[in-house]
Amino acid sequence: MRHNSPATALARGTGQAVAKAILLGEHTVVHGTPAIAIPLPALPVRAVARPAAGTEAGASGSFGFVAGAAAVAGDDRSGPRVAVEEALRRWGRGAETVEVVVYCDIPLARGLGSSAACAGAAVRAVADLYGRDLDPGELYDLVQCGEQVAHGRASGIDASAVLASGPIRFQSGSARPMPVGLDAALVIADTGVSGSTQQAVADVRRRLAADPRAARRLLNRAAALIDTGADALAAGQTPTLGSTMLEFQDLLGELGVSTPHIDTLVAAALAAGAHGAKLTGAGLGGCVLALTDTHAAAAVSAALRRAGAVQTWTVRTADLRAGALSLSASTPERGIPS
Ligand code: MEV
Repeated sequence: MRHNSPATALARGTGQAVAKAILLGEHTVVHGTPAIAIPLPALPVRAVARPAAGTEAGASGSFGFVAGAAAVAGDDRSGPRVAVEEALRRWGRGAETVEVVVYCDIPLARGLGSSAACAGAAVRAVADLYGRDLDPGELYDLVQCGEQVAHGRASGIDASAVLASGPIRFQSGSARPMPVGLDAALVIADTGVSGSTQQAVADVRRRLAADPRAARRLLNRAAALIDTGADALAAGQTPTLGSTMLEFQDLLGELGVSTPHIDTLVAAALAAGAHGAKLTGAGLGGCVLALTDTHAAAAVSAALRRAGAVQTWTVRTADLRAGALSLSASTPERGIPS
């Protein structure tokens, strides 16, 4: 074990990123369509980086890792570690070793962008440790290096959304702010089932490759739905956005990434008055996103938990406008209401 001088031992950097939810366009975005995503500041990740005193991270956070020269090669090739090692290499600090401890409030493997957010917070913490300004493009690239490991072939939408300050429209590696004119609520329901993004993305790729003409038709349909949804989001047309989400859920079902549990939650949300609902993220488990009038949000949230969601969060779309996001934008709701 190496020992640091007292001054070095005191040095630390901190970084933060947040969860995300995809409103429309997951999976098809990997194949070139646009997609719409929102950051979720109610579910943050914080990371603390220090010069490493050994080859094993202290276990005080959700998880920790050591990256850089003294790290045990091949020990853990998680997205956050890959992103930090790439940062050290690009910054000419490949001979150094850092310990990163991550405190993650995002449920893992539920389609809420935990891997990208942990990588984003970790890279920001290491940049802060070295007093480095990170421009958004560089940060996105580094998080994407980690995402390619975590997701197989990631579109980049997670890396963009977890670092964004408001809703984004993302396509082919670039993101722009998305106007929101809607006064409604989004209820996010956790199925409690972990989904593998890597597996879901690979399954969809195989399915599309098996019938290229059908794939082209499906991707065109997806792109049209995303355009309709973006217009409805900007113009404040809640029913249109809801029905667009439902049509997108049908399309995700055709792609094989919905499950009976997800379908049950979608039906429960609709029966409780939601305008629309769909899976969000990679599917095969993960979370469901329901769009509802704000006055009906509590009833939709309760119905989702009665139907088997392990926890729900409610986000008001009025809080989604770029710059208006705060850490109290949503609150977790737990327990099965009678
Ligand atoms: C995962 O949050 C979104 C997917 O479309 C994968 C990706 O875009 O990288 C399923």
